[in-house]
Order: sequence, then C-alpha cells, then structure tokens
Amino acid sequence: MISRRILVISRSPALGRAIQASLGPGYQVVTSTNVIDVVEEVQALGPFDVLVAGPVFDSHAGMARLAQLRSTGPVPATVLALGPRPKASLNDIVRTGAIELVEYPTSKRQLSAALQRAFDISDLSAPANGGLMPVVAHGMVVERPQFAEVFTVASSSGGCGKTFYATNLACYLAAQTGQRVCLVDLDLQFGEVSTALHLRPRFTISDLLAREPVDEDDLNEHLEDFLEEHELGFSVLAAPFSPAEADMIAPKDVYKVMGALRKHFDYIVVDTPSQLSEVVLAAFDHSTKVLCMVTLDLPSIRNMRVFLSTLEKLRINSDSIGVVLNKVEDDVGINVSDVQDVLDNRIVSILPYSREVSRSINKGKPALVSAANSDIGKKLSDGMHQFLGGEATPALGASSTKETGGFRRLMHRHRSPRVPELEKTGSQ
Ligand SMILES: Nc1ncnc2c1ncn2[C@@H]1O[C@H](COP(=O)(O)OP(=O)(O)O)[C@@H](O)[C@H]1O
Ligand SMILES: [Mg+2]
Repeated sequence: MISRRILVISRSPALGRAIQASLGPGYQVVTSTNVIDVVEEVQALGPFDVLVAGPVFDSHAGMARLAQLRSTGPVPATVLALGPRPKASLNDIVRTGAIELVEYPTSKRQLSAALQRAFDISDLSAPANGGLMPVVAHGMVVERPQFAEVFTVASSSGGCGKTFYATNLACYLAAQTGQRVCLVDLDLQFGEVSTALHLRPRFTISDLLAREPVDEDDLNEHLEDFLEEHELGFSVLAAPFSPAEADMIAPKDVYKVMGALRKHFDYIVVDTPSQLSEVVLAAFDHSTKVLCMVTLDLPSIRNMRVFLSTLEKLRINSDSIGVVLNKVEDDVGINVSDVQDVLDNRIVSILPYSREVSRSINKGKPALVSAANSDIGKKLSDGMHQFLGGEATPALGASSTKETGGFRRLMHRHRSPRVPELEKTGSQ
C-alpha cells in the first residue's frame, strides 16, 4: 500500500530517480518537468505529502513561483534541492515555506534523512494544526500563519492620529517580532507616512501599478523593488507623489497589491484616509485587525459610533476591531468610561495628548523610539502589547513590555544594532 506521495519538480529526471532510490517501497514518487506552473501541477496531480523542488528553482523568480503555492491552501512540506551555493536569497527561500534545504547532488542517506524530516513536518502540519505552517528561519523551523497579519488603522474623522499610530505600530511590530513588517500608505491623495518618517521614497504605489499588466506574477516578482526600507527594520510602500496620480489607482489594484504584500511579509500595517473609500474597503478585505482612532470630542465619538456600525454591516468580525482613544486631556467635559460604553467597550488603548508626538514627527522618528520613556511612549507600547496579545511576541518569549525599561529595554535587547538612537534618548 502506498502511504506517501512525493512530487518532484525538476528539469532533469535524475533528481526523481535519486529520491525513489533513497526511499523504500511504499512511497510514490511523481516527477514533473513543469517548472513554470507549480500551482497547477500540485493541484492537478496532488495531493502530496512532500514537494521536492529541483535546482531549476534557484532564483528570485523560481522561489516566487514556489511561494505562490501558499496562497492556494494546504501546501505539501517542501524540500529545496539546490546546488552547492544557492543564488536565491534567504528571504526568497523563507517565503517558499520550505522546511528543508539539501545540497544537490547529495548522498542517498542525506536525501532520505531530509525527506524523513519533511514527512514528520507534513504530519505535524496536517489540518489539525490550525492552518499554521512550518518555515525555515535562520536555520530553525518555526511556525507562522501563511499570510501576513494585516492591521488597518482607520478613523471617521481627520487628524485623529492614524498616521502617528500606524508608523508607531510598524516600528513596534518590527522590534517586537523581528519579522518582516511593511507599512502601506493608503491615504493615496495626501499620504504623510513618508514625511512623518523623513523618508524620501524613490518609488510609490503608483510606480508599482504603472507596470503592465498588473498581474499576480508581476507583483510578486517586482513588489519589493518599489519599497523603501526604514532604518528601524520595516519596509514602506509610499503613497503617490500627487493627488492626480492617486486618482488613477483602482481599488481592485490596491486589493491585488495587498494580496501580494501578504505573501512577502509577516505583518502589514495600513494607514488610511479619513473616509470609507473603495480603496479602504479593499484594505479591509485583507485586514485581520482594524484599529479605529478616535479623539475625545463629541463629533469624533459620534462619527465613530456610525463608523463601527458600518463595519458591522460590512461583516467585519467584531473581535478584530479595537478603538484607540487618542489625544486624551483632562477636564474636557467627557468621561472616558462613558465613551467606553458608547463604543461597546472596544477601547483597547488610551493615549494622552502629548507634545512628544509633534516632536517625534518633526524628528522623523516614531514616538516609541524618540520618546520611549515618556508617558506617551509607554502607553503606546502597553496598548499595542495588550491588543496584540501573544500573537506578536515570538521573538520575545515570555517577556512583556511591562517589565522595567518598557519598550526601550525591549528594543535594546533585540534590535540594538539597528536603533542606536535609543541609547542616546530618554524621556524628554
Ligand atoms: N497623542 C497626541 N498628542 C498630541 N498630538 C497628536 C497626538 N496624536 C496625533 N497628534 C498630532 O495630530 C495631528 C494629526 O495626526 P495624524 O496622525 O496626522 O492624524 P490622521 O492621520 O488621522 O489625519 C498631527 O499633527 C500629530 O502630530
Ligand atoms: Mg494621516
């Protein structure tokens, strides 16, 4: 009886033969030379326990084709059999979700050991495993969701602090998790992410979408060329340089960009304009969490009520919605606990009005970094920690931002080479 099925995709039949020889009876090895349509091949010939991809995939484009598989549902445990010095970058390899990398050609014993580990992982990642898949990261097998978590920061009124919060959240996620984070400025007309971070992007989302045709393959292959790297360890997809360019962007293209980004990153933070435009709805379709910013004044609170019921009508899971009450000052005649009632207890973070925010924007540094020890810095990180719970803490183990030193200590411990300014700045 055949208990295991292995698909080997390679230009040469030698790899398939070597694999068959390294395994005993009870294994069915299916070989294919269709190195272009991996998804189609797996779907047409599957299901498989293990996929072995041959040296022909050793390029950015080849790895991207393998990575595409992960958007289609359960993926066989993937083994890469590459030449002695792989050309594909570590990032490309990680994105495929491969669980083993073997140097090919290799001995029968090594091949069989790699395949055995792949079978073990394949058993682990069966559906009972909650949709998580193992990936190789820096030599270790870890588990992560197949697609990026998407945090969309939205509000019904302007000036509530969306851009301020989104930039800080991207910084927080990059430092907390050590994983790949992208901040996307979907305030297409008047985006301020680049200004707030003192970035001078060479390209924007308009340039990415100016490529023809805007299809999945092209986006997957070229997406990262259009991103700007921030020194704090996250990428930025900038808003268009002018409102005229923004007008030419179709919501369906934004949807596609979001889909492609989700395959490349672990976390995506989306900054939005202050209205529920079609573009924002396209972002919501990909969002796993929506953070709604509101300030402590009646128009903003009233609009937020309407906003929340609209999200309900859009069937956005209420558990994934959190409200951030921003710019809170004493004695403005509105009680925070009353607001909590009006907003169905959805407030997950309360941030004070603070001059540190303007200062941080003028410096081009998120307040989490430039004012790490100030009240706003601590409240920001505590609120994010609470809202995100355990899901954004793989790099931290049991640590909590509530430990002494808060975010400053945390950043120092995990990313110190990339945030030297933390050493110089304290509360201001
Ligand atoms: N907690 C805060 N304390 C003081 N000023 C704030 C705070 N949050 C935001 N701001 C300021 O409010 C203005 C609007 O913030 P911004 O993030 O651009 O809002 P939005 O993106 O929602 O339009 C900015 O000048 C910012 O510096
Ligand atoms: Mg803004």
